[in-house]
Amino acid sequence: MDSQSCLKEIIENRKSIYPKNYSGKEVSQDILDQILASAQFAPNHKKTKPWRFTIISKENLPHLCQAIQSKYKETTPEHLFLQKKYDDFANKIGVTAAIIPIIVQYSDLVPKWEEIAAVAMAVQNMYLTCTANQVGCYWSSHPIFHQLKDYFNLQDNQECLGLFYIGDIS
Ligand SMILES: Cc1cc2nc3c(=O)[nH]c(=O)nc-3n(C[C@H](O)[C@H](O)[C@H](O)COP(=O)(O)O)c2cc1C
Repeated sequence: MDSQSCLKEIIENRKSIYPKNYSGKEVSQDILDQILASAQFAPNHKKTKPWRFTIISKENLPHLCQAIQSKYKETTPEHLFLQKKYDDFANKIGVTAAIIPIIVQYSDLVPKWEEIAAVAMAVQNMYLTCTANQVGCYWSSHPIFHQLKDYFNLQDNQECLGLFYIGDIS
């Protein structure tokens, strides 16, 4: 297939695939590395490269899940707390192969929206790389993830815009 047709096919086949469709199996380190590496090629104004992405691999996901659940419990008023929502975090993360927190670093060299736009383009690259490798993924932007600053050790000029879930769909 020529490169135009190949690109067209990948772009048109890209879609968000959610944990309910993940097999629970691992995704190879090679593919995870490819996904992460593809982010680096996103356009970014003044070459600020505002994404701060790392892979949280399967063995570290239970720890992240506990942090999310504790934060949800701690910050949700009792009358709004939903046990189903609390359990859902664990059900979804339980079948996920890896998570890349979508973290932006603001440089002050360009407006904030430009840094966020560049991060979103980097996420699109990761989506496309997942599609090309027949791996499921989606961007989850649940507001609770903004509150994981301490967990991710974020500086004042950094923010978590969500989690990029990656899962095997074989
Ligand atoms: C910035 C952003 C945030 C998103 N947040 C969520 C989310 O919190 N929960 C969710 O189910 N999907 C989320 N999505 C995925 C969208 O729902 C999905 O892209 C949309 O339904 C279109 O489907 P497609 O990606 O398969 O084309 C998000 C997508 C983007 C770009």
